[in-house]
Amino acid sequence: MDILVLSASVLGFVLLFYILKSSGSLSKASATLPPGSFGWPVIGEMPEFVASMWANGYQSFLENRNKRYGTIFKTSLFGYPVAVFYSAQGNRFLFNADVQSYFPASAMNLLGNSLISKVGEDARVVRKMLMNFLRPQALQKFVGRADSIVNDHINSKWIEKQQVKAFSLIKGGLFAVACSLFMSVGDEVQQNELHGPFSDILKGIVQIPVDIPGTPYHKGFIARKQAHKLMQKVVDRRRKDLSSGSASPEQDLLSFLLCNVDDRGQKMSDEDIIDNIMMLVVAGHETTLVAVTFLLRYLALHPHCYAQVLQEHLQIITEMEGRQDLEWNDIQKMKYSWRAAQETLRLQPPSLGSLRVCSEDISYDGFVIPKGWKLCWATYSTHKKEEYFPEPEKFDPGRFEGKGPEPYTFVPFGGGRRMCPGNEYARMIILVFLHNIVKSFKWDLVDANEKIFCNPLPLPAQGLPLRLLPLSQQKAV
Ligand code: HEM
Repeated sequence: MDILVLSASVLGFVLLFYILKSSGSLSKASATLPPGSFGWPVIGEMPEFVASMWANGYQSFLENRNKRYGTIFKTSLFGYPVAVFYSAQGNRFLFNADVQSYFPASAMNLLGNSLISKVGEDARVVRKMLMNFLRPQALQKFVGRADSIVNDHINSKWIEKQQVKAFSLIKGGLFAVACSLFMSVGDEVQQNELHGPFSDILKGIVQIPVDIPGTPYHKGFIARKQAHKLMQKVVDRRRKDLSSGSASPEQDLLSFLLCNVDDRGQKMSDEDIIDNIMMLVVAGHETTLVAVTFLLRYLALHPHCYAQVLQEHLQIITEMEGRQDLEWNDIQKMKYSWRAAQETLRLQPPSLGSLRVCSEDISYDGFVIPKGWKLCWATYSTHKKEEYFPEPEKFDPGRFEGKGPEPYTFVPFGGGRRMCPGNEYARMIILVFLHNIVKSFKWDLVDANEKIFCNPLPLPAQGLPLRLLPLSQQKAV
């Protein structure tokens, strides 16, 4: 009986296929989809995608398809059909299209009510609140504090060491800055208490969202609860300090969020404040860490670039005339250093791209992408293309002089309504960190051929061991 039903179904499908094919509707429908393959049933093209992630951060997965299919192609990942836009025109289209951003369910669950779970008008309102703190005019007054924290960090963790593993040290320094600028947590013990849960949240955010004990996702959930408990104490204390006048409404992100209302005249709930602060720490931490780590690596590999950076910072120190901490104005003078950082972000983008989702069919370049598909843009679509960046593998900060790259070709921070809101903060912190290292040491790579692996962000396999030579000694030599 079962065999009969099965045979009848197969026959039915075959007939339907030929009827559709002869009427032209099947060929018309598939002709309008972008070229590409959905791979295997259920798992789609995940095996090749995952293998490519470990090997080179998806670059080979994307490049192979770009060569085979062109600048837009379809694939199937994480159980979804995905259209990949792989050109500067594609970036322009997606950044300006009326589409929503999309984050994996695991990230949305672990970062609860933060900006990343908001769409449309709700996202605009929350983003504007956060930008009160993250826009350049507001960040200006935090340069001195960031500088003094990084300076203390270098003095306590780097100075008097001949060799360090830069990656984990930078990680700690960046976390200390974020704890201070976001919530004035300056005490190392308290920072360490927060560091554990934050790391676990980070590990849980790109995972299959099934809450099974022992999995990174489950650990992320427990960490979220711990972090909320710890941060609620910080919020309660701050509320008291604000009403007694011992804290200022502008001293950090937490005060900004507690003391301001949004465009709708509403205050953020404590839960939303905590989630948004956690989200900013998580979104900004590893990305900035990758940027600083690789900047040090590229400068060590290119002594003529290092020499220009050193010159720039020594000049700034001279012009500071004994002033202790950096100011916003000094950051603006770090022009060559920022070009070197941009070139680092081009060659080793900490974010490989992101996803959007369309709520209705959209047309692009003669193809139709059906409603509900995920839409992907990728930094590699342009960052390493000869047509936009001649000799793309060469480290050349000079590319960013003058007008710089063509629009939509250099996109480390994405673009459009969901562009990274932390880009100015990242620029400030990268330059402050670089300044403090450059003014203290010359550094060499212990292993100039250290392997890079991706998880999914690029990381030096041994943690970037560096030999340090204090600058004062170097001058004496
Ligand atoms: C070098 C460092 C950084 C890089 C390369 C980077 C890159 C990116 C990229 C590519 C996106 C997606 C943009 C899009 O889809 O169009 C993004 C989103 C985001 N970034 Fe960054 N980021 C960095 C640092 C930071 C920092 C320091 C913060 C926080 C202070 C931050 C907060 C965020 C947030 C909250 C989002 C989500 C925005 C939204 O959904 O509307 N990022 N980032």
